Amino acid sequence: MNEIEILNFMKVISLEAGNILLNGFRSKEIMISYKSRTNLVTNIDKESENFLYNRIREKYPDHTIIAEEGSEQRTENDYIWYVDPLDATNNYAHGIPYFSVSIGVFSRAAKRVVAGVVFDPFHQELFSACRGNGAFLNDEQIHTSGTTDLGISLLATGFPYNKADMNRNNHREFIAFLPRAQGIRRIGSASLDLSYVACGRIDGYWEPMLYAWDMAAGSLIVEEAGGTVTKYNGDPFDPEYPEILATNGTIHAQMIDILSTIA
Ligand code: IPD
Ligand code: CA
Ligand code: CA
Repeated sequence: MNEIEILNFMKVISLEAGNILLNGFRSKEIMISYKSRTNLVTNIDKESENFLYNRIREKYPDHTIIAEEGSEQRTENDYIWYVDPLDATNNYAHGIPYFSVSIGVFSRAAKRVVAGVVFDPFHQELFSACRGNGAFLNDEQIHTSGTTDLGISLLATGFPYNKADMNRNNHREFIAFLPRAQGIRRIGSASLDLSYVACGRIDGYWEPMLYAWDMAAGSLIVEEAGGTVTKYNGDPFDPEYPEILATNGTIHAQMIDILSTIA
């Protein structure tokens, strides 16, 4: 299977799904329902997911597809599609213009993500990568930052929906990084956090309790932009394992050192 062909198809469908998001954004069409008090879903998430799921299934009927809102097709094929039809639903529902469509394809044979796109339709920014071919923002190749000192690094993170669990809600990690970094952003979209690491806007990003549809595409985009992506302890990244540390590479060890102090 030609992975460039997969990537080109991903770009086409993510742009179309992005239009679905943009048409609904700040409109009276948005209907919110609550998976929990803190975890929202809208009719637009579902509309985007139905569109993407049907297009992928039509084009690649023998691939596995796993999408956040429950659309699923499981096969033995090499390729697994992880689909987040609207990453950052909370931003979207509040009219905050940072959200995206995120699609990553994992190869069981390669044991790695091999193609990924993150499309931010509000800013018309399409981040993309195919393993071995570099990372791009629209048509421009992108690279991670050159910052070597954590003290002058801008970091990003996010907090899981279950905020009541004080041992696992990321506040301890946040407190450990806060005095040691230049600043910390909470953009509200894991896939954009990763894309911003890839293009050098953010130097390092960590987050617990994520899913493959949040991380798969962005993790490859960071790696192809020259960055490093691992678990908190430096072990190889696994999209099915719920944590990620993604950096420009040069501050990676400094971030692992700090994360290692948290039991
Ligand atoms: C969420 C966003 C957010 C992250 C959450 C994710 P969703 O995705 O990526 O930045 O902190 O953990 O669940 O639910 O809006 O697709
Ligand atoms: Ca998400
Ligand atoms: Ca989502």
